[in-house]
Amino acid sequence: MKGILDWFVLFLVCSVLGWMLESTYRSILAKKPIDSGVLGGPFIPIYGFGALLVEMVDTLFRYHHLGWKLALCILLCTLLEFLVSVFYETVFHLRLWDYSKMVLNIQGRVCLLYSLFWGLLGLVYLEILQTQLLWLVGRIRDVPILGVIFIGFTVMFAIKVISSFFELGTLKAMKATLSNQFDGSGIEHILRLGFHVNRRILVAFPNLIKSFVNVFLHEVNRRANLPAGFFPFRKAVSILFHGSPVYNDWEDWLFFLSIEDLLANKAVQSMSNYRHHNGSTLEHALSISQASWYLAGAFGLEKDACARGALLHDFFLYDWRDEKHPHHATMHAGIALKNAHRYFNLDEMEKDIILTHMWPLSDSFFKYRESVLVSLVDKIGSTRDIFSMISGINEEIAK
Ligand SMILES: [Fe+2]
Ligand SMILES: [Fe+2]
Repeated sequence: MKGILDWFVLFLVCSVLGWMLESTYRSILAKKPIDSGVLGGPFIPIYGFGALLVEMVDTLFRYHHLGWKLALCILLCTLLEFLVSVFYETVFHLRLWDYSKMVLNIQGRVCLLYSLFWGLLGLVYLEILQTQLLWLVGRIRDVPILGVIFIGFTVMFAIKVISSFFELGTLKAMKATLSNQFDGSGIEHILRLGFHVNRRILVAFPNLIKSFVNVFLHEVNRRANLPAGFFPFRKAVSILFHGSPVYNDWEDWLFFLSIEDLLANKAVQSMSNYRHHNGSTLEHALSISQASWYLAGAFGLEKDACARGALLHDFFLYDWRDEKHPHHATMHAGIALKNAHRYFNLDEMEKDIILTHMWPLSDSFFKYRESVLVSLVDKIGSTRDIFSMISGINEEIAK
């Protein structure tokens, strides 16, 4: 390595290799293509910085034992990952990854398993890739056509860095606005910002959506625990906590009255025949519908549209565990809307609630605040259902 240019070439080449490695790994795990990283294809800079650290260790400790170099790689790359996580959280208020459920983690930013993985990658770099990569760096420096291609990549990299700063800034603003949930003009701001968010980044970092949902849930819980006068929040928390609708008092009766005509329909009733998470699709839809109805009332939104849209949000009428539906997650909102059209006259808001409830997995972004509400409530309800399904399976195994 001759000078600063060589180090930059190595950084960019390894950022591309890192993107290829991580996107392949995540795509295999998710069984669908995932464009990993904040910048998206084809760069993940943390791998480039990691390669520079490993190269630096090798240069400074050339004549030391490999085990010593490996230990340093693990330490420095773990420190790098920790600092990058702190950077995104400090600057953008976003937690891009969260290892808090992993063994031996520090603040959920780094964990033993991934640190060992970084060490293994360092070892692969030193033992297998280093010679070829340094040869490639020299070729890019010396062969004009490769130099021109490299300049093209550098320009692309610079554009991606700048645009990602704008995107992450938008997400930061969305999260901040979510804290003033559904009050005043706050939500209008989310709807405006939403059109500027790159869906890819939310699919690549599911933890971001989790943090949005947590902000919302925290707010609902906080209001539920305020002194008297907040029973809709308490009702919604209770419905979501138990995962089933309630029929105890006059207010509950009013809710069922608002969806009476839908419930009288045979196709809607048939949702009880399809399993969904740990219960039937009808039970899930009813609990999301009732919790949304109460929250919509508390936030001054259209209660009935929320109740009706939410009842039909999973009106896809098949068992999604079936192998015939491999694209269920991205397709079922559209299928539910098509089925709903067949039986009912829906207004624009109800249509939007059904179509956007899977955002960011679906293409359509919310047009109404009611759609944001139902989508968040569905995410909370579905997460609760999945946890109770897993604990149910664990109890079965324990027996
Ligand atoms: Fe759904
Ligand atoms: Fe759902």
